[in-house]
Amino acid sequence: MSFHPKMAYGATFHKSSRHLEEEGPAFVYTPENRARFDVIIQRYPPDRRRSAVLPALYLAQYQQGYITANAIRHVAELLGITRADVEDVVSYYTMYYTRPVGRFVINVCRTLSCAINGAERVTEELRAKLGINPGETDASGTFTLMEVECLGACDRAPAVMVNDAWHECLTPENAARLVDDLRARGEAALSGCHHLVEKKRDLGIGD
Ligand code: FES
Repeated sequence: MSFHPKMAYGATFHKSSRHLEEEGPAFVYTPENRARFDVIIQRYPPDRRRSAVLPALYLAQYQQGYITANAIRHVAELLGITRADVEDVVSYYTMYYTRPVGRFVINVCRTLSCAINGAERVTEELRAKLGINPGETDASGTFTLMEVECLGACDRAPAVMVNDAWHECLTPENAARLVDDLRARGEAALSGCHHLVEKKRDLGIGD
């Protein structure tokens, strides 16, 4: 069932249409990420190591760009849980990528508040601007366009998440400007929203 009769839900890179993880190259955390993991795991009781699965997967994704079967195996071993436990998490959350994505992943919310405030027009503008459909990455590997469910910014709809940064109250015009800005300024064009700042702090990455 779709909020948008015309929207091609089946064509999107979405939980229900995900592929199984690639085996990928051998994977272990870099020394830097292993040190970050060792800090993160201290926040959890010894019998609750499994609760660190989300940040452990984010570290793997930051390191490799997407989650492979070997990365899942590594995370499972570190947390003392089964590979199936970790796969369940990866397959549930759309923010974990199971295939290569572009440098900037543009996630357009398509849930109700955003839908009635013009998310479909934002997606159409981005589709035209980038020359790709939802679920695709451009030939240069710079942009991946995705449609996702509620991003938790319903009062500022339509909302778009680019990598870990929220951009809100988007119109087709400022969505196009955001793409131009990303092309011109790279990561500096991402908003400094609290979620991005807090996530980097929690993982011990950057500023
Ligand atoms: S409906 Fe789009 S952010 Fe909640």
